[in-house]
Amino acid sequence: MQNNFWKNKNILITGYEGFVGSHLTLALLQYQANVFGLDILTRRKNTILTNDSSKINIIKGSVADYDLVYKIIIQNKIEFIFHLAATSLVGEALADPLETFSTNIRGTWNILEASRHSKFTKGAIIASSDKAYGIKNKLPYREDSSLCGCHPYDVSKSCADLLAYTYFHTYGLPVCITRCGNIFGPGDFNFSRIVPDAIRSIIKNKTLIIRSDGKFTRDYIYIKDIISGYLLLAENMQNLKISGEAFNFSNESPLSVLELVKIISRLSGKQKPNYKITNQAKYEIKYQYLSAAKAKKILKWRPHHKLEAALKETIKWYQDYFAKRS
Ligand SMILES: NC(=O)c1ccc[n+]([C@@H]2O[C@H](COP(=O)([O-])OP(=O)(O)OC[C@H]3O[C@@H](n4cnc5c(N)ncnc54)[C@H](O)[C@@H]3O)[C@@H](O)[C@H]2O)c1
Repeated sequence: MQNNFWKNKNILITGYEGFVGSHLTLALLQYQANVFGLDILTRRKNTILTNDSSKINIIKGSVADYDLVYKIIIQNKIEFIFHLAATSLVGEALADPLETFSTNIRGTWNILEASRHSKFTKGAIIASSDKAYGIKNKLPYREDSSLCGCHPYDVSKSCADLLAYTYFHTYGLPVCITRCGNIFGPGDFNFSRIVPDAIRSIIKNKTLIIRSDGKFTRDYIYIKDIISGYLLLAENMQNLKISGEAFNFSNESPLSVLELVKIISRLSGKQKPNYKITNQAKYEIKYQYLSAAKAKKILKWRPHHKLEAALKETIKWYQDYFAKRS
């Protein structure tokens, strides 16, 4: 972390109340940045930002609204943008492709186009995803793999990713792209994701429903390592001349869903995991994990959190959260 890099800088975080956005907001407030947060849902009940909202310039609205995005970026002299707003769940994207394409694709071109017209933009970090690559036989996925999602969420991320690429290559906009695997940690209220769902099922003594056959593999990475990656990327865009580049962030240790569930059960003190396999998952990539060699080499980024220790912290956080609600 560069000393004072973020102090008094005007930063826009889209989707600031989401899982990644709320952690990034907290980190940037800690570094004394002026955070402008845009989200369609603001001041929600389930957020880790409750005590900090007075320090955020909160804007309720959609990234799909170009006039709003333009106004925010120009009027507030935004220097860095972290574009995280998205329909972020594969299932939701499948159920509502139009909303997904509007937010994830139109929202991204709005951010890029407005940034292009601003003389204040120093960097835009666009959240793509491991899903942007689509299905590949060769593992791990590397940044030079082609982008060819097949289903709504995946395609929306392939498109957003390519849009970011063109805004650098055509207009010279300082843009970087992140492609992460499955992020987990405190404050993820998306309970259809496997880590929060598995922990909640254990805490509530319920059977965990596994939608796949349990053998799908992913890499799982702790939110704190992702936040350090995002910040490192933005801080180094200029000096490392990495605009237009995409970076994978991963701990390069793929696990099957069943392996993950067994670890979570053991760390929660359960002898035997309680789950039911329904094998209903459709349109999901089966085997996927990322190489983080590029981020390690160029950014000197490292994941500092070991999976089991990070899962333990996460389990404890959910235990406290559910205890307060009961
Ligand atoms: N969490 C992961 O495992 C993961 C992995 C790879 C990529 N990503 C990407 O990282 C980003 C952040 O993910 P997350 O886990 O925080 O997701 P999230 O769903 O928790 O947060 C997304 C936020 O965007 C907001 N939003 C949705 N539509 C909007 C719109 N039209 N205008 C403004 N705000 C809108 C939501 O209200 C939410 O607060 C997303 O782009 C996601 O696709 C996440």
